[in-house]
Amino acid sequence: MLVGVPREIFPGERRVALVPAVIPNLKKAGLEVIIEAGAGVEAGYPDSEYTVKGGTIAAERTEVFRTADIIVQVLSYGSNDVTGKQDLPLLRKGQALIGFLRPLGDVPTVQAIATTGVTSFSVELMPRTTRAQSMDALSSMGTICGYKAVLLAADTLPRLFPMLMTAAGTITPARVLIMGAGVAGLQAIATARRLGAVVSAYDLRPAVKEQVHSLGGRFVELAIEAKDAQDAGGYAKAQDESFYQKQRELLGQVVAQHDVVITAAVVPGKKSPVLVTKEMVAAMAPGSVIVDLAAERGGNCELTRTGERVVEHGVSIIGSINLASTVPYHASQMYARNLTNFLLNMVKDGQLKLNMDDEIVRSTLVTEGGEIVNSRVREFFSLPALVTQS
Ligand SMILES: NC(=O)c1ccc[n+]([C@@H]2O[C@H](COP(=O)([O-])OP(=O)(O)OC[C@H]3O[C@@H](n4cnc5c(N)ncnc54)[C@H](O)[C@@H]3O)[C@@H](O)[C@H]2O)c1
Repeated sequence: MLVGVPREIFPGERRVALVPAVIPNLKKAGLEVIIEAGAGVEAGYPDSEYTVKGGTIAAERTEVFRTADIIVQVLSYGSNDVTGKQDLPLLRKGQALIGFLRPLGDVPTVQAIATTGVTSFSVELMPRTTRAQSMDALSSMGTICGYKAVLLAADTLPRLFPMLMTAAGTITPARVLIMGAGVAGLQAIATARRLGAVVSAYDLRPAVKEQVHSLGGRFVELAIEAKDAQDAGGYAKAQDESFYQKQRELLGQVVAQHDVVITAAVVPGKKSPVLVTKEMVAAMAPGSVIVDLAAERGGNCELTRTGERVVEHGVSIIGSINLASTVPYHASQMYARNLTNFLLNMVKDGQLKLNMDDEIVRSTLVTEGGEIVNSRVREFFSLPALVTQS
């Protein structure tokens, strides 16, 4: 079978779905790889490296889609809501598609993917099990975003991060608050600590406290308790408005005491909860920085503008999206390893075998034979259950 790697077409995207180093592993399993010319260049992987590892270069994008049995992408239509639509006519029935599809985005988009007949898999729907950990692209990209968010904050803050004792006096360390200590938040804690900041973190899931401590962070406890803070999959559950209101009241004082706030609190498929209001921003010291990693889904800060940097009340609010793409070499390497593990789990004797008893396959398969077949996606959009659904 042939795995095709088209060049990413989301504006500014620099990642590539497969890196040369994974090709030998795929070949061992009976998979050949065809790469659109230049697909890896921006990530630091020239065409020549792919050919050395046994890949074939296609001069035309259409050739990749026409010849490949499996198309692998970073941002497929859905998560690529700018230019992704142009790939739809290139997809065909029976072909497989793997990538970020934003399956809980909107029905018409997922339905449009289904209508091509393609058998699509969304990496966002990877179950959070030990076996699936090596395939978990959300965690890989979260790690990179958490790291990069701290670097952006450090670069923007008019203060130093570490404590320094110099002949010119003692410099006090920056105080950094991380809100939402999931994968990205935990990486942000670790990175800010390495730069010498004093780090506190808050999350509504009490289970996180120990992880924050183990990274040298202080855990902020609020006098409110979330109801059923996490679902069976380990994700935070949406809370009612009275919870969020109380949370904001209590967080106000905490935010004002920090120089940097990095927000990374998301609830899958939902608009991000507002944790930092405009009043809280106004109460921060001038020169403070907020990096809102939830900007893509509305933002955790009321004043965030998606994709932009703004200064409000003297506070810089960074709402960059697609931060993982700004570290394209390692983001691509991690993503390629995730995809390779995912593919190898499904390929038997050089053929794609969909074992619906495998939770990894069942959870990630979104469309097949013209239909949206994923039960979580159907439930989310209140679509009637499919009769053939397993
Ligand atoms: N394979 C696996 O076992 C696996 C894989 C990935 C993640 N995980 C675990 O799942 C958990 C969530 O990880 P994630 O990074 O994907 O989460 P995420 O990106 O979905 O959310 C980020 C964090 O924001 C928090 N949050 C949401 N709403 C909030 C609010 N109103 N106030 C404060 N915090 C709020 C969440 O609790 C979460 O910790 C982590 O504990 C992680 O270790 C397990």
